[in-house]
Amino acid sequence: MKQINIGLLGFGTVGTGVAKILIENRDMIASRIGAFLNLKRIADIDVTSRRDIELEKGMLIPDAGAVIHDPEIDIIVEMIGGRTVAKQLILDAIGNGKHIVTANKALLADGGNEVIAAARAKGVDLAYEASVGGCMPIIKSLRESLVGNRIESMVGILNGTCNYILSKISQDGSSFREALAEAQENGFAEADPTLDVEGMDTAHKLAILTALAFGTGINLKDIFVEGISSISPQDIDFAREFGYCIKLLAIGKDMGDALEARVHPTMIPFSNPLSNISGSLNAVIISGDCVGDMMLYGRGAGMMPTASAVVGDIADIARNIITGSCGRIPVLGFQADRIKDKPVLPIDELVTHYYFRFAAKDQPKVLSKISGILGDHHISIKSVHQKGRETSGSVPIVMLTHLAREIEVYKALNEIQALDVVTGKTVLIRIEDQNYND
Ligand code: HSE
Repeated sequence: MKQINIGLLGFGTVGTGVAKILIENRDMIASRIGAFLNLKRIADIDVTSRRDIELEKGMLIPDAGAVIHDPEIDIIVEMIGGRTVAKQLILDAIGNGKHIVTANKALLADGGNEVIAAARAKGVDLAYEASVGGCMPIIKSLRESLVGNRIESMVGILNGTCNYILSKISQDGSSFREALAEAQENGFAEADPTLDVEGMDTAHKLAILTALAFGTGINLKDIFVEGISSISPQDIDFAREFGYCIKLLAIGKDMGDALEARVHPTMIPFSNPLSNISGSLNAVIISGDCVGDMMLYGRGAGMMPTASAVVGDIADIARNIITGSCGRIPVLGFQADRIKDKPVLPIDELVTHYYFRFAAKDQPKVLSKISGILGDHHISIKSVHQKGRETSGSVPIVMLTHLAREIEVYKALNEIQALDVVTGKTVLIRIEDQNYND
């Protein structure tokens, strides 16, 4: 049976998982694809730490250059992460005619167009299923299975760390810090967890999905990003009373002349299937003109689920090598000359429902002052909740709105903030009320 040689760059958590699958499931994978996937070399600066796997002597080396220049290696698997060393190694490997598998969403989202152009010019495959949603086949779904659909929207939970934190606060009343520490212990979080909690990791993933879904180039800079670090247990409790939970969502919608592309904490009703996705699980609902609504869910992080997606990509490329059909599927799912940039709607122009929590003095006319300003800005209130008197004389007043324009919301909140009866910063959370139960 033919043998396809693999070079692995990076022997951390996911890299170790990839090695385990390639070594331990070697025969089973060969029976499926008709070739042995032979892990020939692994490069990592740390060649001494113990990993939970036995390697042949000499397989693990410190020199990545020796791997990407090895003429016998067909596929380079980049599991280093980051945007500098990893990018240069990928570009050099492409220059050497190697096919590439990567999970590096930061690199693809910010610098991806250059790497993709290099792969296209060289006629090599570039696969990146593990960059979004861990084990979920979201890239394959958009690139291949849904090829007959106009994608209308994608709404998803794409960061296991944030989902874990929000679930923990909601279910156990854990503090933000405790929940983050647990996510880090479980190996979901990025090396720099601010990428997770401030929403950038999710934005990287949305930038990739938006390009695949809507046939645009990768455009990270126009995505609106807000993280979860200011979400309090109090807001999670209020949301629950109104029949909602709070999730960090990635939202991509084709609005015709423009796209919506935004990442922020979002209130969704308990009837939305995404409300049931807890812990480190990821999920995404894709709406297409043929399929209607379709949901994928699964483990979005962690050693073996992410390694599973990497090995799926290696197998796809190996099949292309065997059949001489590399480059069969365009990297971003659309032919290069059909990729068109579409403007992203500025967040000011968003029209959606809102949750506000005001901190105000508990005295006459407070509600009428607040609602008067909202009315002046064409913001119509759907429900109001005032919770009991606090010792300081300040109370939380919670409101849900009908559809309102974000620029008017900002103007109204600025005016409200200046009222002498308002005692603290107002909390704003956007609501996604799309009904998936039709
Ligand atoms: N830090 C990411 C997460 C890992 O928490 O989902 C997977 O991309």
